[in-house]
Amino acid sequence: MKENIEQLREAFLTEIQTVKNLQELDALRVKYLGRKGQLQAYFKQLGQVDPADRPQIGRLLNELKQLFERTIAEYKSRFREEDTGEWIDLTLPGRKPPVARKHPLTQVLDEIKSIFQSLGFTIADGPEVETDYYNFEALNIPKLHPARDMQDTLYVTEDILLRTHTSPVQIRVMESQPPPVRIIAPGRVYRRDTPDASHSPFFHQVEGLCVDQGISFADLKAVISEFARRMFGEDIQVRFRPSFFPFTEPSLEYDFNCVFCRGKGCRVCKQTGWMEISGAGMVDPNVFKAVGYDPEIYTGYAFGMGVDRIAMLKFAIDDIRLFFENDMRFLRQF
Ligand code: DAH
Repeated sequence: MKENIEQLREAFLTEIQTVKNLQELDALRVKYLGRKGQLQAYFKQLGQVDPADRPQIGRLLNELKQLFERTIAEYKSRFREEDTGEWIDLTLPGRKPPVARKHPLTQVLDEIKSIFQSLGFTIADGPEVETDYYNFEALNIPKLHPARDMQDTLYVTEDILLRTHTSPVQIRVMESQPPPVRIIAPGRVYRRDTPDASHSPFFHQVEGLCVDQGISFADLKAVISEFARRMFGEDIQVRFRPSFFPFTEPSLEYDFNCVFCRGKGCRVCKQTGWMEISGAGMVDPNVFKAVGYDPEIYTGYAFGMGVDRIAMLKFAIDDIRLFFENDMRFLRQF
C-alpha cells in the first residue's frame, strides 16, 4: 500500500506539470481527487489494511490529499492571473516624472539679477507685509501726500500694509549699513488695481540703489543703458524723461526702444518706437536724513523696474494675467 501511495504521488506531480490551462487542471482534479479517483479508492481500501499499519497509511493518504489540494490551488491561481491579464511585468520601464521648468517671470528675474550682479550689485530682500513708515513715510511720502493716491493698497491695520513697491527695501538696507551701497531688491508688490491686460493686484519689481561719494546722474544713465543693451540687444536705445517721485530729486522716467520694431514704430508701441519701463532719480536728501546718511557727503541714485512688463516685452505676451493663471499650456511654452 505504501508503495502504491508513493507511485500515485509521483504520477500526480509529473502529470500536473503538463497541465496547460484551467480546463486541463480541472480534469486532473477530478482524476486525482474525485469520488471515483485513485485516492478515494485507497481510502476505501483502508478497512482491509492490517490494523497495526492503518494509522500510518491513513496519515500518508491524508498528507497526499493535502498535497493534491495545495498544488492544484497553486496552479489554479497561476492560470487565473494569466487568464485575466493581471500580472506584473517587472521589465516595464517606470513612468517618467514630469520635469519642472522655471516660470517665465523667474527666468526673466534670474537674467535681471545676473546682469546687475555682473555690474557689482548685490541682492537685498525685504518683507511683503510692510509698515506705513517704510512704504511711505521714510520715502518722503507723508500721510496726506497726494502721491499716496497712485499707490493704494491693502491694509492689515492702519499702520501695516502690503507693500506697494520695492522702494522700502532701500530704507531697510540703508538703515542696516553705512555707505557705500550697491544693491538690487527684487520682489512682489501689491496695489488695489482691478485686473485687466496690463494690471494685476500683485506684480513684481526690481529696485536698484547705489549710494557713495560722487555718484551722479551719469552713473544712473550708464547703468540703465547697459542693462537695456544686455537684456534686449546692443541696438536698444534708452530715453530719459523728467518726472516726479517724492523719494528722488531730480526724478525721471525711462523708456527703452520698442523691442519689436527696434524703434521704428509699430502696433505694439503705438507707433512711438518706445516702451515705458519705470522710474528713477537721485535719492532725495530727505530720504538720506531718514536713515541717518549725511546728504552733504553722499549722493546716490535709485531706480525701479517692472519685472512683469520686461517679461511681457521679452516673450511678446500681451496680457499680464496669463502669468498668474497656472495654465500649463501657457507656461510650457517658455
Ligand atoms: N517705486 C516706484 C513705483 O513703484 C518706482 C520708482 C521710481 C522706484 C523712482 C525708484 C525710483 O527707486 O527712484 O512706482
